[in-house]
Amino acid sequence: MAEDNRFITSTKNASDLEIENSLRPRSMSEYVGQEKIKNTLEVYIKAAKKRNDTLDHVLLYGPPGLGKTTLSHIIANEMGSQLKITSGPAIEHAADLAAIVTNLNKGDVLFIDEIHRLNKSVEEILYPAMEDFALDFIVGKGPSAKNMRLKIQPFTLIGATTRAGMITGPLRDRFGVICRLELYTPQELMIIIKRSSKILGIEIDDDACLCLASRSRGTPRLANRLLKRVRDFAEVIGEGKITKPIAEKSLALMEIDELGLDFVDRRILESIIKKFGGGPVGLDTLSAATGEDNATIEDVYEPYLLQLGFIARTPRGRVALSKAYEHLNIPISDEKKKSLEIYKTVENDENK
Ligand SMILES: Nc1ncnc2c1ncn2[C@@H]1O[C@H](COP(=O)(O)OP(=O)(O)OP(=O)(O)O)[C@@H](O)[C@H]1O
Ligand SMILES: [Mg+2]
Repeated sequence: MAEDNRFITSTKNASDLEIENSLRPRSMSEYVGQEKIKNTLEVYIKAAKKRNDTLDHVLLYGPPGLGKTTLSHIIANEMGSQLKITSGPAIEHAADLAAIVTNLNKGDVLFIDEIHRLNKSVEEILYPAMEDFALDFIVGKGPSAKNMRLKIQPFTLIGATTRAGMITGPLRDRFGVICRLELYTPQELMIIIKRSSKILGIEIDDDACLCLASRSRGTPRLANRLLKRVRDFAEVIGEGKITKPIAEKSLALMEIDELGLDFVDRRILESIIKKFGGGPVGLDTLSAATGEDNATIEDVYEPYLLQLGFIARTPRGRVALSKAYEHLNIPISDEKKKSLEIYKTVENDENK
C-alpha cells in the first residue's frame, strides 16, 4: 500500500490538514484528556498572568498526533499572546533564529516544532535567548574581537518533539515546564470523536463511536481520520449515519483489526516472532526486515505496541511478548511464555 493510502502514518496527509484546523480545540476546556498537563499549565499560566510576566518555556513531547501543536495554540490563546510558528529543520542558520527572536514582541510565544532537529550552532544561540533574553555575538576577529550582547524582548518558547531522548541536556535544562503527552483512553477518544462528528455534521451512534475510539491507537489525529474515512463509507453503503455494522465493515476493508493494528503492525510483530525467534532484535535489523524506516517504527508503531504490552524494549533490542503471539494466533510454548515473564517488570521507557 502506498504511504498516501495508509491509515497509520507519522505525518499529516493532505486531507488531515484540511480538517485539522476546523477540528482543533481552541481552549483548555475543549482540549480533552491530558488532565495532569492541563492542570499544571493552568497553574503556571494563571501565575504568570498574575505577575504580569511571561510564561516559563514549555517542552511538549510525545508520539505524533497527540495534540502538541494544538496545545501550543491553546497556551498562546490563554496567555493572550501572539503565536509564532517555526520548526527545527526550517531554521538552518544561527542568523535565521536571531532574526526570529529579535522580531518577537514582549510576551509572544515562539513555537518550535521538531525542536530535536535544530542544528548545534542554532541551538547555541537559543541558550542565552531562553535564559537571559539576550543574543551573544562576537564582533571582529583575532585579539580585537569583542563579545557583544543584544537584549531581546522576554518571550515564551514552546518546543515540541516526538523524541525527547534526542534533545541535548543543556537545551532540556532550559525548559521550566516539561510535559509528556500520554496516549488517550478510548473514553477520551469517544468525546473527541463525538465533538468532531458534530463539527463535521456526521451522525454517529455510541456503539460506532466506541468502535472507532478503541481502534484509534490512543491518538486523536487517527480518531479524526477514521471518522472521516468511515463517514465516506456510511454515505456510500449506509444512509449517512455511522452505525456499528458500518464502522466495522469499513474498518475491515481498511484492514484495521479490533485493536487498531494495521498490516504494518502485524508485519513488525510477525518479523520479530518468525524471523528472529521472538527477539531481542535490534531496531536496524527490524527496520531492514520490515522495510519500514527506524523513525517510523519508533515514533509511530512502537508506542502503541508497547502500551498494549505486545512488545518490550530492552537494551539488546525488541522482544515480542505473549500477548502478541495470542493476538496473531501464533502458538507459544509454556517454556517460552515463562521466559518472557521477566520483561513484564522491565520499565518500557518510550523515550530512551
Ligand atoms: N486533547 C485533544 N482534544 C481534542 N482534539 C485533539 C486533542 N489533541 C489533538 N486533537 C486533534 O488531533 C489533531 C492532531 O493534533 P496535533 O496536530 O496537535 O498533534 P501533534 O502532537 O502536534 O502531532 P505531530 O507530532 O504530528 O506534530 C488536532 O487537529 C486535533 O483536532
Ligand atoms: Mg504538531
